[in-house]
This record gives sequence, C-alpha cells and structure tokens, in this order.
Amino acid sequence: MSAGLIQFSDEQSRRDFNRKPTAFTHGLLGTDLFTDAALAEQLERHPAELFDINVFHYDKEGRAKLQTGTKGRRPGDELLGAVKQGKVWIQMRRIQDHYPRLGEVIQQAFSDLGQQVGGLRPIDVTGQLILSAPSASVPYHADPPGVVLFHLRGEKRIWIYPPDETHMPCRAMEQILLEQQTEDLPYRRDMDAAATVIDLKPGMAAAWPLHAPHRIENQGSFNVSLSCDYQTWGSRITNGAHYANGIMRRMGAPVRSAEEISVAARTMLWGASLGLRRLKLIRSRVMSYERTFELGDAAPVASCGLIDPLATG
Ligand SMILES: [Fe+2]
Repeated sequence: MSAGLIQFSDEQSRRDFNRKPTAFTHGLLGTDLFTDAALAEQLERHPAELFDINVFHYDKEGRAKLQTGTKGRRPGDELLGAVKQGKVWIQMRRIQDHYPRLGEVIQQAFSDLGQQVGGLRPIDVTGQLILSAPSASVPYHADPPGVVLFHLRGEKRIWIYPPDETHMPCRAMEQILLEQQTEDLPYRRDMDAAATVIDLKPGMAAAWPLHAPHRIENQGSFNVSLSCDYQTWGSRITNGAHYANGIMRRMGAPVRSAEEISVAARTMLWGASLGLRRLKLIRSRVMSYERTFELGDAAPVASCGLIDPLATG
C-alpha cells in the first residue's frame, strides 16, 4: 500500500486534531479488507474471547440498557447476516493481532497521521473492527485512551461533547480508570446543544480531544468501522494522574483535577499511580455481563423473556 492514507481538508482541521472534534478522509477503502467475504472470514477466525456483542435498549430520555451475547458456532456469513438484519453491535478486539493485513494498514495510517500531526507519537495502538446493524447505536460514553474512528461502510452520526466538568466530570474518569464504573456516563438530551455533530460516510474518519464523551447512531444502513485506541505519553500520564487522584479522593485527601495541574505535577501523580496499581488497593467493580443470547439464534433470548436482539424496528 502506498503512503498517504490520511488527508485533512485544510490546514485548520489538521491543526484541530486532538484539540477539537475533527473529521478527515482516509484511504483504507483502497483495500479488499472490508468486503462481505473478508468480514465473514474474520468473524469465523477471530478468537471468541475477543468479541463484544451487544444490544442496547433505550428509554425515552435516551438512557441505555445493555444486553450482551456470544458469537456461537454459526458460519461467518450467517453471523454477518444476523448483524445486517438486527440491532446488534459487534466488536472484534485486538484486530491488529488477528487480521495481520489490517494490522499493517493500521500501522501505516498512524505513521501517516504522525507525519501530518506534529507531536502525535503513539506508544501503543490497538484496533477494534466494529460491525453494526442499521438501527444500532452506542450510548453516551468516554474512552480513557485517544481514539481515531475510521469509517468504512454505511452511514452513522456521531455527537461529540466537550470534555469539561459538565459533560465529563473528572470524578467520573477517575472512577472509570479505577474500574469502579463502565465507560458509560449519565446522559440528558439537553446536552446535545453543546455537541459537535459529524455525519460519517465511508472513507471518512473522526477524532476528538482526549476523554471527550460521544454517542453514535447508525443512519439506517449496515455499518463497518475501525476504532483505533492509542496511547501517547501525554495520555498515559494524564490517565495515571486521574488514577492516583481517584485513590487519594477515596482516602479523603484534597485533590485537584488532573486537567488543572501542571505537567510536572501530573507526571508526579502518574509516577505515584504505578506504585498504587501494584498495591491493588481497589477491587474492580466492573462486572462482566451475563451473556443472554447467541448471535444468529434468537431462541435463547425469547426463552428468557428478553427482547429479541435480532428483531428489526
Ligand atoms: Fe468511544
């Protein structure tokens, strides 16, 4: 594959990378990695323990309830068919390790991004290949690492909110990093007034400032996206500082937000977090969800009285 996988529309959007919600274009579709046949093959060979298979049910206020499933033993083309017809959202984690040709493309895309965006030097990049149904959506949440979302097939709309105290309280990020809560955050519809909305079409990518909350709705078509988490020394130090702050807050010590303090103070807290992690002072409260359905087989769902995740509408 030739160089030049990333293209910003203008100088301003290139400069906005990591500072504001940004959209740009990518060249990942110049490969045969995301055809139905390629996806079906990957669904079959990807390790079962690296799958997340979810259906979210929403109330009138847009608050989500999660139902989680397993891949089962169906052939890849049937699994793909189940996603296309239902409300299911599938993520294949660590895709770079199990789809080597895609792993090379991810490396190249980040190398290209690093050349264009001054100072972007990721020390770790992991990819999730996400297949989602026409009516699937992802609730309001924030990710601890930086994220670049490469959109590949279908259309989706993403709302990106400011990473400020109103939309992403630092206490919530501390709790996420201490594994006391999942990445999902309290959401109200009136928060949308502060959001940047991007309509993603195949060949587009989106990125946002570290910890900016976001939510996604598919726009009536089967979607394929590649979500890449990346850590830089900056994000690692910031997250370490949140972790240390979270522990100190629990001990009743005075805490200033990791976002407000100097780089030197943040780095000291990160150093402290390394030791604190080893002490294992806090037990994870993020439970693993009970798997209540098998993809491609609605029967177990019906039998336990839950909504059929493969039903449309
Ligand atoms: Fe996310």
